[in-house]
Amino acid sequence: MNKIYADNSATTKVRDEVVEAMLNVLKEDFGNPSSIHQFGRTAKSYLEESRGNIASLINAKEEQIFFTSGGTESINTVIFGISKMMDEGSFKNKDRHIITTKIEHPAVKESLEHLEKKGWKVAWLNVDKEGFINFDELKSKISPRTTFVSIIHANNEIGTIQNLKKISEICNENNVLFHTDAVQSFGKIPIDVNNLNIDFMSMSGHKIYGPKGTGAIYIKSKDRLSPILIGGGQENKIRPGTENMAGIVGFATAAKLLKSELLPNAQKLRKFQIELMERFSELQHIMLTGPALVKVKENTPHEKFVHRTPGHVSLCCRNLEGESLVLQADLKGIAISSGSACSSRQSINDTSTIRPSHVLLACGIPENFARGSLRITLGKDDSEDEIYYISETIKNITENAKKKIAALK
Ligand SMILES: Cc1ncc(COP(=O)(O)O)c(C=O)c1O
Repeated sequence: MNKIYADNSATTKVRDEVVEAMLNVLKEDFGNPSSIHQFGRTAKSYLEESRGNIASLINAKEEQIFFTSGGTESINTVIFGISKMMDEGSFKNKDRHIITTKIEHPAVKESLEHLEKKGWKVAWLNVDKEGFINFDELKSKISPRTTFVSIIHANNEIGTIQNLKKISEICNENNVLFHTDAVQSFGKIPIDVNNLNIDFMSMSGHKIYGPKGTGAIYIKSKDRLSPILIGGGQENKIRPGTENMAGIVGFATAAKLLKSELLPNAQKLRKFQIELMERFSELQHIMLTGPALVKVKENTPHEKFVHRTPGHVSLCCRNLEGESLVLQADLKGIAISSGSACSSRQSINDTSTIRPSHVLLACGIPENFARGSLRITLGKDDSEDEIYYISETIKNITENAKKKIAALK
């Protein structure tokens, strides 16, 4: 049986062109970009070309891109870099006040909880049942004394894409810095940082068919951040340390290839996504999560879908356990994931220790549904046959699990 990989929001398969470019850097052009000899100069040219490839995908300037070891490091660099700058007394007329949402990835959520313990005031914005923030609530919480706002662009669990343009307008009106975690949107939907007028954006390489342990930050103006690492002049001192050249070149090669493929990929993935969501919406025991399918006239795009990550399908099954369904799907050859995770379970049948996801709870999903969450995230190479197999398998395993529970009662 061929395995079907439908967990592309967790990570993606590194594409062949990326492996080839990385092997060249590992085996042949292995110099340190800080060296002034020929090997170093060649490495430096790869580094700058790579920076250009990332910049070009989001309409940034090369000097606004800083390489890191991934999304988590990018996010930490921004959050703790701003907090360090505050400690150094560089933010005049600002309070230790941050605004974020209740549906952030742990990289943002836990970093801000850490700052909260150190005395920062964090306002956690509510979301509606589809995961969208309310602009009036943002306006009511923000003031010119707020230091920064951090809002996830595309949510990893429910696929909701926030309106960055509107958020950045509100931040700019109040002279407040704005960071977005774009790990799940970068390379999947068009992003123009210049037009959006945002201050910081975090990105990751392994979600776009590049290698793990690679990422970047877009920083509009470098003087708004103190480096959290110290010890070298690399990356304009924002991220000192000898660069992961193979990783950077791999990441940038993936981004370069996506520049022309992004729209066709998105179109194909949206079609599959709609097929799966329509199929699942017919099943009584399943509740779709994230932005809903909006039925519109024949041959017109589902308009709401511009606000949902292409290829992202998420759902909850009442009174079932997400992790167990993931294992059953795995036995049928499909790799998917669940938003809920086990904390300290004694046995596979013990669902009391399953922690429902904070994202689903924030959307108002009842706990008995949230524990049974599943996420299917399709990738650029998925085929129509695979989509059919996924939909039949999920239907069967969830229906069988329901029958088993009913028989036990
Ligand atoms: C929304 C979001 N932010 C941040 C991260 C962390 O990125 P990385 O795995 O590159 O550290 C992830 C990873 O899944 C993510 O989905």
